[in-house]
Amino acid sequence: MDVISVIRTKRDRGRLSDAQIDWVIDAYTRGEVADEQMSALAMAILLNGMEREEIARWTAAMIASGERMDFSALPRPTADKHSTGGVGDKITLPLAPLVAACGAAVPQLSGRGLGHTGGTLDKMESIPGWRALLSNDAMMDVLRSVGAVICAAGDGLAPADKKLYALRDVTGTVEAIPLIASSIMSKKIAEGTGSLVLDVKVGSGAFMKNLDDARELARTMVGLGTDHGVRTVALLTDMSTPLGLTAGNALEVRESVEVLAGGGPADVVELTLALAREMLDAAGLPDADPAGALADGSAMDHWRRMVAAQGGDPDAPLPVARERHTVTASASGVLTKLDAYAVGVAAWRLGAGRARKEDPVQAGAGVEMHAKPGDRVTAGAPLLTLHTDTPERFEYALGALDGDAIEITDTASVEPTPLILDRIA
Ligand code: URA
Repeated sequence: MDVISVIRTKRDRGRLSDAQIDWVIDAYTRGEVADEQMSALAMAILLNGMEREEIARWTAAMIASGERMDFSALPRPTADKHSTGGVGDKITLPLAPLVAACGAAVPQLSGRGLGHTGGTLDKMESIPGWRALLSNDAMMDVLRSVGAVICAAGDGLAPADKKLYALRDVTGTVEAIPLIASSIMSKKIAEGTGSLVLDVKVGSGAFMKNLDDARELARTMVGLGTDHGVRTVALLTDMSTPLGLTAGNALEVRESVEVLAGGGPADVVELTLALAREMLDAAGLPDADPAGALADGSAMDHWRRMVAAQGGDPDAPLPVARERHTVTASASGVLTKLDAYAVGVAAWRLGAGRARKEDPVQAGAGVEMHAKPGDRVTAGAPLLTLHTDTPERFEYALGALDGDAIEITDTASVEPTPLILDRIA
């Protein structure tokens, strides 16, 4: 087999054969196919698409590039959640211990932030002492003793995707539905969860900017999961404005703990409970009561044990940024827009995110919001507080919020956008 003929097949809008797909994924993982050749193929896939059978084979080849985990020895059914990524999306933090408190085991292999979207591991690492890296045995121990674990995926899981995702990130080929679906689902299927709930984000702060694309991505992923025996459901949820009132690592941990304590912003609570119900249903526990587990403190108890099991101190004060800058409302009226992408870029520029994989993040940096779209605001009152250790970043971050990122309208009220836009099973 030669790589040029594989690239030409897709460049000329052909269908890749099973043998071509198996060979190119294996040869790329071993280093026989070069990065420039794989990026040409990824671009041809982005431009010309893939048929359903091609995506299924591509996903299977990525799974076969590494190890598969097996949770069948656990006494509880397994349930996992994956979000396609957004701004202020801290849902995994309250959700994993909540679902564990209701009787499922939650093996939450998570990632770091890149670009304007945050990463669960970066958020958790703002808890003093907490460790993201666990061996497979240590992960199983935490799952057995607590019922929920949030940790980094080991190098052995879908190594073809690790290489390919890093390449797509620097070659403008992330936004291809076949490549996103196969990337996410290869890791989730290799992880070995019995059921999976996908939170497919739609809007300015998400990969998918419109509902049609999000539905296609969701249907593709649900089909892949089902074909591999994983009960898979997708919720399509709004990401035109940030989730909750914070975007940034320690800021989001604080907000998650508020939710576990029975408070927190209404949208974070609504989505946490909706995803928990889907996960418990998919895991065969439809009678579980996640709202009760938030109210009676059992979700908080599981959070504290989960944090402590990975070396973290759930009582330690969270890091706070050294400097703050307040952005005030420019007029009185109703806040009609607070753009997710703009807030995500501002948080990233303040130091909450990284420009390159190896960059450190600032635990305390980020954006705190004092109003959500639909709220009435008064001219001169605080709208946002920017947090950073490096005040020279304020101007750069404020640049992200210029233009039409924030809109205040002289109107009586606005219809709120629903948070949950669709469900695909
Ligand atoms: N997340 C992934 O894991 N892969 C993608 O391609 C996009 C988002």
